[in-house]
Amino acid sequence: MREKILRLLKENSNDFLSGEKISENFDVSRAAIWKHINTLKEEGYEIESVPRKGYRLISSPDILTYGEVENYLDTKFIGREIHYFNTIDSTNIKAKEIAQEETEGTVIISEEQTLGKGRLGRSWASPSGKGIWMSIILKPHIDPMKVAKITQVGAAAVSLALEDLNIKSYIKWPNDIVMNGKKVCGILTEMSCELNMINYVIMGVGINVNLNKEDFKGEIEKIGTSIKVETGKEVNRKKLLGFFLNRFEKLYTTFVNEDNFKDTLGICRDKSILIGREVKIIRGKDEQKGKVIDISDEGELLVDYGDNKIEKIMSGEVSV
Ligand code: BTN
Repeated sequence: MREKILRLLKENSNDFLSGEKISENFDVSRAAIWKHINTLKEEGYEIESVPRKGYRLISSPDILTYGEVENYLDTKFIGREIHYFNTIDSTNIKAKEIAQEETEGTVIISEEQTLGKGRLGRSWASPSGKGIWMSIILKPHIDPMKVAKITQVGAAAVSLALEDLNIKSYIKWPNDIVMNGKKVCGILTEMSCELNMINYVIMGVGINVNLNKEDFKGEIEKIGTSIKVETGKEVNRKKLLGFFLNRFEKLYTTFVNEDNFKDTLGICRDKSILIGREVKIIRGKDEQKGKVIDISDEGELLVDYGDNKIEKIMSGEVSV
C-alpha cells in the first residue's frame, strides 16, 4: 500500500492530493493513509501536508528501494522484487537464506553491510548510503560449469551502465571494474547445485559509488577507489542501479536462453585493461609473469609466458 501511495504522490507531485482522494483510490481509511504518510516521512520523504488541501511530495530520499528505482527500470524480471535493508551482515548471506523460495531476478540490497564478503575470503567495506551493495538471485538452466561466465556478464553490465552515465571504466578480468587503475566494483558469485542441476546462483555486486577518499584507508588506498573520487562528482545511485539491472537482464537472457556469450565477450574484450599487458598471475604464494594475449571464446584469459606456451586461465588473481 505504501508503495502505491508513493507512486500516486510521485505522479501528482505538482498538486496536492487530498486524503479523501487517496483513500477513495485505494479503498482504505484516511487514518490508514495518514499512517502510511508518516512512515514515508520517517523513511526520508519530504511530504507537505496542508489542512483541507492534502499531501504533496516535495523530495525523495537517496535510498535504493523498489519505489525509488522502478522509474529507471525497463526489465521484465530482474529487480522487479527488491528486498531492501538499512543494514545487514551481507546481502549474499541473506540471498542464500531465501533463494529457494524466491523467484529468479529477486534483488537483495542494503544501504550498509557489516560483514561484506569479497573474493578469496576477503572482506568488503560497505559503508552506509555510499555504495550499491546488492545480490541477485538467479536460477539459470545451464551447465554448472558455465556459471563462472555469469560473473563476466555482470562485469560487462556494470561497465555498460557506467558508460550510460558517460563514465569510462575498464574490466579487469574476470570480474573487477577499474577506473584509473583502481578498483571501483567487485563481484562475488556463489552457487548451490546438485550433480548437473543448479539450485540457484547468487551474484553479489559491490559498487563503490559515492565513497570519499577517507573511506579508503590503509592497504586498500592503493587498490580501491570510488566513482565519485575518480570523476569528482556525486553519482545518482538509483539511476546507476536501474541502468545496471537493465543492462544485466539483456546480456544475461541472451547468454542463458540463447547460449550466446559473444555479446558479453565483445564487451569484456573491448573494455579489458589486461589484453596486451604484462601481468603477474598469482596462485597462492606463486607468482608468474606473462603477457595477456586475449580472452578466449570460453571466457578464459590467454597468457603467453614467453616460451610460446600459451596458458588458458579459468579463474584466479592477476595483477598489472
Ligand atoms: C570482490 O572481492 O571483488 C568481490 C566483492 C563483492 C562485494 C559484494 S557487496 C554485495 C555482496 N554482498 C557481499 O557480502 N559481497 C557482495
